[in-house]
Amino acid sequence: MKIKLLTYALLIALSMAGCAEAPKTADVVKPEPSGLKFSYPTAQRNVVTLSPPEREFMLNEMRYYLDMIWVTSDALSRDDFDTVAKVARSRIPAMSSSPLPPNLEAKLPAAYKTYWRATHATVDELASTAERSRSSRETLRQLGVVMQGCNECHAIFQFQAR
Ligand code: HEC
Repeated sequence: MKIKLLTYALLIALSMAGCAEAPKTADVVKPEPSGLKFSYPTAQRNVVTLSPPEREFMLNEMRYYLDMIWVTSDALSRDDFDTVAKVARSRIPAMSSSPLPPNLEAKLPAAYKTYWRATHATVDELASTAERSRSSRETLRQLGVVMQGCNECHAIFQFQAR
């Protein structure tokens, strides 16, 4: 866990070097969201500045995630692994239903992109786990991995539209 946190701290420090809007390194949050800490003041979350359409694109992706977690929990209560796999696999069509704003990726700090891609991979793994294991425990464990990724990124970043 310590090594993982140190890696995140390093990633954040590196990404901040190239991020004009970022707070000073001393203000960067180094949270431990998997523990019992419930407060992450917004003033301490690193600002990612986006245009209004870019922010909207990102928030739409988040809405897909929220729906996915809802559908997954509901399906798992019935051991309906096909629905879990289907909703997790709908990530790509859901994300590509509106075109990626052209300058968006360049505006995202490197640490943000690392969490972003890691989340895509854990959601893809959720689909495979449901299909392969057909076990609600295994699938729930992977859902926990997905949600830890949501949790960590939310503790560290915020969007501001300008
Ligand atoms: C790479 C970083 C990152 C990851 C990973 C991430 N989010 Fe977010 N999410 C954000 C940011 C930043 C915001 C905007 C917060 C703000 O500015 O107040 C946000 C906002 C949201 C919102 C609000 C959407 C709205 O319409 O206002 C929801 C819901 C959400 N995320 C769900 C999730 C879920 C569920 C996951 C995991 C499956 C997830 N997010 C993963 C960064 C992330």
